[in-house]
Amino acid sequence: LQTPSSVFFLFGATGDLARRKLFPAIYSLYREGKLADDFAVIGVARRPRTQEEFREDVYQSIQEFCRYKAEANEEWYAFAQHFEYKALDINDVNGFRELKEQTEKIEERYHIPGNRMFYLALAPELFGSVSFNLQKGGMLEGQGWKRLVIEKPFGYDLKSAETLNEQIRQVFREEDIYRIDHYLGKEMVQNIEVIRFANAFFEPLWNNMHIANIQITLSETVGVEERGGYYDHAGALKDMGQNHMLQMLTMIAMEPPSRLLPEDIRDEKVKVLRSLRPYLNAEEVEKNVIRGQYIAGSANGQELPAYRAEDKVDPNSNTETYFATKLFVDNFRWAGVPFYIRTGKRLPVKTTEIVVEFRSMPTNVYLGQKHKLEPNLLVIRVNPMEGIYVKINAKKPGSESDIQPVAMDFCQSCMVGINSPEAYERLLHDAVRGESTYFTRWDEVASAWSFVDRIAEAWAEDPGKLSTYPAGSWGPTEADELLEKDGFHWWPVN
Ligand code: BG6
Repeated sequence: LQTPSSVFFLFGATGDLARRKLFPAIYSLYREGKLADDFAVIGVARRPRTQEEFREDVYQSIQEFCRYKAEANEEWYAFAQHFEYKALDINDVNGFRELKEQTEKIEERYHIPGNRMFYLALAPELFGSVSFNLQKGGMLEGQGWKRLVIEKPFGYDLKSAETLNEQIRQVFREEDIYRIDHYLGKEMVQNIEVIRFANAFFEPLWNNMHIANIQITLSETVGVEERGGYYDHAGALKDMGQNHMLQMLTMIAMEPPSRLLPEDIRDEKVKVLRSLRPYLNAEEVEKNVIRGQYIAGSANGQELPAYRAEDKVDPNSNTETYFATKLFVDNFRWAGVPFYIRTGKRLPVKTTEIVVEFRSMPTNVYLGQKHKLEPNLLVIRVNPMEGIYVKINAKKPGSESDIQPVAMDFCQSCMVGINSPEAYERLLHDAVRGESTYFTRWDEVASAWSFVDRIAEAWAEDPGKLSTYPAGSWGPTEADELLEKDGFHWWPVN
């Protein structure tokens, strides 16, 4: 499906996200024939840059980060002509008026009917000013749709998110606002819906009668790299928990939507967030949420520094680089089923996995007490490996009656020729087509913040109470105890 012809405004065009994700995503869409011929991109940022320099930035980014490579030939030249740059001070409305003139020329050149998508890869403090100045500068006038796409973090807590939302809502309607959570753009996260609702073996068992617990792990090997300044104020709970982890949880836990339409799906997702059992006080938080920070350690024979020694991080920082928590979704389907989620930096592997652990079978006469049966598992591998596998019990070949767990494995990323589009590619494509299912609606963001705020507030009362873990390890031992108390353990990731 090709995108409608439109101009894509990228605010933050000289930033990291543009370079690593957005330019490569645009180029992949182009290479796959998903981009209208009449498209244009205007990169906007503060620093001065000539059109040639900007096009060179785009070229370099594609060479480094895109799954397709460009060649500096005529085809590339024709593609690059669709990219322009505008240096702009976000607080100066005159710059927006100039941007309007530049846009009208470009729209005329490519016969674009006024469709404009504004992508803000900026700090959230700037979302309001940009929206107001887009309006004052006349950028929202005329024919065609006007959409706002915003990156996380959407605020730093519920209060700041509300302020932000009020500001942008003075300019844009909710249905024209696309809040990105790039995990929702991942192939396997979108696949959760299909696995659940298109398979006779899962949905009938998808409840507290048959599921013992659900575990979501999002582990990263990287530290904070060059993002210490941002991360030290955010921490794992806000950087990953409020958004990616809770979004994956909603996909796993939601009721089947009545129709597969964006609003119906989002209605079901927000109900999950509203059903999360809140932690009532600091004591409950302490019991159910583990926070950790990495100290110096090693991985693959390489020494790794402590978090507090990382660039742009306060040497006395109490920011968590890891958290694990136990949650309950208080509704009919999930009553009593614990959801355990954990995420951290500097863990031993980079992976995102969801494990659904089924209740154990009663030991029956045939099996007697002789065997300790492992529970059945459904494992959804989100990244970097993509696929699902089911662990079942079977007789050990050749033995008389020994039982062993075996895996039925569907490895999507192992299939020859599979080249799943990147999350950003899919989300950009969706936003230009006005398909909003995999973007977060305001009520989802607000519910997620109110849940997370309680944890953050409890932590703020006693900031120094932080467990540590050596870089390269699986996080604080308290996170293992969290499950052991319930008779469970974290399933090893693959
Ligand atoms: C981002 C976080 O949203 O997601 C980063 O800000 C994190 O801290 C990243 O590294 C992980 O995304 P992915 O797609 O690489 O798993």
